Amino acid sequence: MSIPHLHPDSIEEIKQRADIYEVVSEYVVLRRRGKDFVGLCPFHAEKTPSFTVSTSKQMYYCFGCQAGGNVIKFLMDLHKRSFAEVVLDLAGRYQIPVQTLDAEHRQQLQRQLLERSQLYEILTAACQFYRHTLRQSQGRAAFEYLRYQRHLKDETIEQFDLGYAPAGWETLYRYLVEDKRYPVQLVEKAGLIKPRKEGGYYDVFRDRLMIPIRDAIGRTIAFGGRSLADEQPKYLNSPETELFHKGKTLFALERAKTAISQLDQAVVVEGYFDAIALHAAGITNVVASLGTALSKEQVRLLLRYSDSKQLILNFDADQAGTNAIERAIAEIADLAYKGEVQLKILTLPDGKDADEYLRGRDPENYRQLVANAPGWLDWQIEQILQNRDLKKSSDFQQVSRNFVKLLKKIDNNDTLNYYVSRCAEILTLGDGRLLPLRVEGLLSQIAPQKSSYSSRLVQIPRLQRHKSKQELSIQESVNTAVEQQNSLLEQAEALLLRIYLYCPEQRQVILQALEQRDLQFSFSHHRFLWRQILEISSAWSLQQDLIAALQDKCLQFPEESELVSHLFHLNEKSQKEILRASQVVQAAIACMERVLREKRYRYFLELWQQTDPKAEPERWQSYYQAFYAEKQRLQELDRQRLFSLTELLSATHEI
Ligand code: UTP
Ligand code: MN
Repeated sequence: MSIPHLHPDSIEEIKQRADIYEVVSEYVVLRRRGKDFVGLCPFHAEKTPSFTVSTSKQMYYCFGCQAGGNVIKFLMDLHKRSFAEVVLDLAGRYQIPVQTLDAEHRQQLQRQLLERSQLYEILTAACQFYRHTLRQSQGRAAFEYLRYQRHLKDETIEQFDLGYAPAGWETLYRYLVEDKRYPVQLVEKAGLIKPRKEGGYYDVFRDRLMIPIRDAIGRTIAFGGRSLADEQPKYLNSPETELFHKGKTLFALERAKTAISQLDQAVVVEGYFDAIALHAAGITNVVASLGTALSKEQVRLLLRYSDSKQLILNFDADQAGTNAIERAIAEIADLAYKGEVQLKILTLPDGKDADEYLRGRDPENYRQLVANAPGWLDWQIEQILQNRDLKKSSDFQQVSRNFVKLLKKIDNNDTLNYYVSRCAEILTLGDGRLLPLRVEGLLSQIAPQKSSYSSRLVQIPRLQRHKSKQELSIQESVNTAVEQQNSLLEQAEALLLRIYLYCPEQRQVILQALEQRDLQFSFSHHRFLWRQILEISSAWSLQQDLIAALQDKCLQFPEESELVSHLFHLNEKSQKEILRASQVVQAAIACMERVLREKRYRYFLELWQQTDPKAEPERWQSYYQAFYAEKQRLQELDRQRLFSLTELLSATHEI
């Protein structure tokens, strides 16, 4: 299509009518903040909202990726469509007649616009027809099937607009084309009829239970039709049309999106009836994939509604289901490895699908299973272990190779950390003494592929068997890993100090955390500043401005002060960090504790390795316990931390 010259008046009118909040909120969960709204940016992956919508300006702007513009720009970028297409879509939606500057284009555009709206109309008419037929005598068997075999309430049948396509070859054709006088080409384009070779048309759906498929805003765009006899295929779906793209559609999304954003979690099932049964049971954050492998686009579509990006796949437990899960994981693996989707896998007991599982059971059971569903990596670990006996060396090797393959793909540091130790623990077969060896074994196989790896796994030490005790001091083992960690630590400490200075309400929290966890500042200039702060505070009257007093005091120590003077000023970045003070404090404290624990871990581990278990069994044992305790605390810290400081800092930049 060549670029149409839309009349500026039409564009203006469309801009006037299409409210940015209304349009954007169809795709992004927006929360009010002041007079604007914020949400997760649909144009880049992020965990904390930096996407803002201003209704007064009718503009959006993302502080993370700098995407911004008006309502038309939003839809163009989101759907990768041209200006004209978006304008026409909006015109259709708001029923605004479009004028173009040249008559030929105008006609072309209007034709297209008209065609789309007619397609919607035809599909809606078909839906009503099927719905009506279900309640006629010819639909009786279908209706009874729904009521008695699928155990659906009238109310559910109504809600989902279920229907029945009669057995004849031309019933819908006659209704839509002869009675309602819709153009036959359009009815064909809607995917409802097909031309016969010998001329004329026949209905695509015959003697089937009809399930309307809607887009995210509830317009009927296609149908799934289930056979009532044993006719193949069991489900016949509408072909791809101008309105219906299987890989971009999720069944029941329009009914699920509110619950998904409220529960901050989406469940994907395989079957239409699984979704229907769950909705009927009051579990409404559920959509169904359309029998195809779940696509990245479908996942993205879903994740728009969930802040924390929690996605639960509840596919069948049979081989086909397992394959479907593997395919889905492969499809969205890069999102999952990066931590952009929190993917969990739910398989129901006895190989049941959700619909079968719910019969005669309290829906609460299902909710419980969802809550306890294993993460996708745990699920994959289970798959790797299935039918393997780790006591057999061939199985052991196979499992260990597969672990390495899995671990190699993990991008997120914390996740990697956690799973390295988890896999290592499995490979110890319960013998804790083997843990360091197994960790080391896995690491050495993962590491060659990842140059940055050692720096990401700093709490796992390099084994240094042949060094004297003196040489084993922490300073000696400084490597890039420690340097990187030091820079993070320095940032953490600086942040904490800055927040202490600028957020009086955080001071108590910081003092307590440092004391309870017995933490010190590691950098001497930070220790210097902290000492000054404590000295001033002990002689402090509330009227006094801490920062001013501190600056005065520092005048006496020009050299040290040089290194900390930047902490007295807020630049744009630190202003943002301060806005998130309480999260930053937690993350910074965790970072500091981590460094402390890690030093102790290394220290005890080295001692343990230096000790001869036969000569000094008790000492050997106590070192073992000491390093193991430190390691567990490290893992606990990793698990507890919602954000690592690095993530938090980069998120802060997005705000
Ligand atoms: P299942 O075969 O698991 O069916 O297909 P189900 O949903 O449990 O069906 P019931 O309970 O026997 O009615 C899962 C989904 O795969 C798609 C459909 O979307 C179906 O809901 N499918 C399945 C098809 O598109 N075509 C088919 O022939 C079969
Ligand atoms: Mn089923």
